[in-house]
Amino acid sequence: MAEVAIQLVSATPASAGVETTQQEHTQFDRLTRQTLRFLTCGSVDDGKSTLIGRLLYDQSLILDDQLAALERDSKKHGTDGANIDFALLVDGLEAEREQGITIDVAYRYFTTPRRSFIVADTPGHEQYTRNMVTGASGADLAILLIDARKGLLTQTCRHAAIVSLTGIKHIVLAVNKIDLVDYDEARFNEIVADFKKFAAPLGFESLQPIPLSARHGDNMSERSALTPWYKGPSLISYLEDVNVEQDRRSEPFRMPVQWVNRPHLDFRGFSGTLASGRVSVGDAVIVAASGRTSTIARIVTANGDLDSAEAGDSITLTLNDEVDIARGDILCTPKDRPEVSDQFAAHLIWMSDEKLLPGRSYLLKAGTRSVPVTVTELKYRLDVNNLGELAAKTLSLNEVGFCNLATTTPLAFDPYQANHTTGAFILIDRTTHATVAAGLIAHGLRRATHIHRQGLNISKADRARIKHHKPAVLWFTGLSGSGKSTIANLVESRLYAHNVHTILLDGDNIRHGLNKDLGFSDVDRVENIRRIGEVAKLMTEAGLIAICSFISPFRAERDLARSLLDEGEFIEIFVDTPIEDCIARDPKGLYKKAIAGEIKNFTGIDQPYEPPLNPELVLGRESAQQGAAKVIAKLIELGFIDEIENLDDWSI
Ligand code: ADX
Repeated sequence: MAEVAIQLVSATPASAGVETTQQEHTQFDRLTRQTLRFLTCGSVDDGKSTLIGRLLYDQSLILDDQLAALERDSKKHGTDGANIDFALLVDGLEAEREQGITIDVAYRYFTTPRRSFIVADTPGHEQYTRNMVTGASGADLAILLIDARKGLLTQTCRHAAIVSLTGIKHIVLAVNKIDLVDYDEARFNEIVADFKKFAAPLGFESLQPIPLSARHGDNMSERSALTPWYKGPSLISYLEDVNVEQDRRSEPFRMPVQWVNRPHLDFRGFSGTLASGRVSVGDAVIVAASGRTSTIARIVTANGDLDSAEAGDSITLTLNDEVDIARGDILCTPKDRPEVSDQFAAHLIWMSDEKLLPGRSYLLKAGTRSVPVTVTELKYRLDVNNLGELAAKTLSLNEVGFCNLATTTPLAFDPYQANHTTGAFILIDRTTHATVAAGLIAHGLRRATHIHRQGLNISKADRARIKHHKPAVLWFTGLSGSGKSTIANLVESRLYAHNVHTILLDGDNIRHGLNKDLGFSDVDRVENIRRIGEVAKLMTEAGLIAICSFISPFRAERDLARSLLDEGEFIEIFVDTPIEDCIARDPKGLYKKAIAGEIKNFTGIDQPYEPPLNPELVLGRESAQQGAAKVIAKLIELGFIDEIENLDDWSI
């Protein structure tokens, strides 16, 4: 049972990107119909552990089989001797773990006769912001703990701000340690007034302040005689009664397709969990991205057909028409469709030790869909203590930013505040496959819907015909001083002599013009190469052989430049000169300065160079002329230009 509970938490549809099977969903569905998922925010000092301890041990009935499993596990793996170790109910986010990060969120599962609860317990300090966001992502409600003696602290404001950002609409303001202020009504009212003033712009739908003593049990399960002035519910009875289910059911119908169920030729069903709304047999449905429509024929479940289903149900839909639908599509109501765009604005919560590199291509995973994406503009970083906006060029671990993103293909989505499932995504590093950020979509960018591609009359092939050669990109990469530019120049001269139309893009030159706003930080280098990649693409469209000579130290951006071109057009040439030789040559005297610490971020000295894994050509040992001849021979071999005689004769 304990294991099931943990799996179920990781199977929560709201945690974007987590894949589950139909079976898990059915279990989830059955066991969580009455489940309230909530987050506790506060520190140990505020009495958080005591509060959770009390909820778990004193106030609630832990399911017998769960308890038995826990006792068994506690004896085997626990850290608390023969006593029950509740930490063993912790940390079920397998998918995130597979994605390369361990998020320390303790999920605790308990139940009372009236409701089941999943508590996400995260550390409260600022360096644990990502954990808090993870815990909040599946939660319906947050308990904000305040020490009655201390009142509203910066950390309370931060917790409230993050909770609001993650779309939680229901708040319990737990004014704890009320015994230590002599059960004083005035003190309680003062704290509540302070909080209401701060929280007014945060858009919470309900706020229930409760004076508590977690330690002594006042107002935990029953109203305390020591706070006769308090007329509200006890914490437990409030949690048992609060209505959050309604929220998801009243939203428009959305069902991301988890898989297309095709057991035999006569049955084609679309399986998934209803993210929001309701659906009935006979209802019209539309596929968000393609706009194809049909009506619902059957709603199939493991326990037989249904007439209708609602948010949280795991179902298989069959339709009355043959409609092209694939895993990752979103089925929705034609009356209220999600946005479809390849550009949108979103909050990003950065979760990786590697900083955000705007311009780099990451993988965006939303539900069951994955598409390449870049952050096109980081608008600001959020001051999580007060939601103030700070200027920023990058995001580091635990920082929250607001940015514009662009995907390579359009994505169907809702704003996160309207739908926690279809409005959330994660970003994955394409090389390491680690999850680097959680994203909450704010809105689509209007400019994306107003700009369409213009058809062109003259194609690449037309241009190649009059130029008598095919366009290509010769991409030279290597350390500063490796000889890239020298070889590139020789290649261009030779091609020119044979009437081949070329352009040479060189790092030093481009940095005097198009990229004069960029320096050598990794963020700027990513943008440098992204722009060059786009320019090189334009040059091939003009029919030219674009010779590019840039250190281009990062694999990801060289791969991005490659991906912009047609198959086979990108020829990566690694000028593999050992760094010792580059330092010895030092043609511009830059290594000397870098080694002396006068130039920062110098490639090979205090910034990394990532050599290509599968370059089309490796040079370095030969003379510049021999190297250039090899490059041209490669162009001939690949059929871009015609045969050139006497390639090794440079006297021509
Ligand atoms: S890249 O890394 O962004 O691809 P790019 O090829 O455009 O670099 O520019 C590299 C040239 O800038 C070098 O050849 C060198 O002349 C000059 N330069 C100045 N500062 C640096 C630095 N910190 N690191 C590398 N090159 C530098």
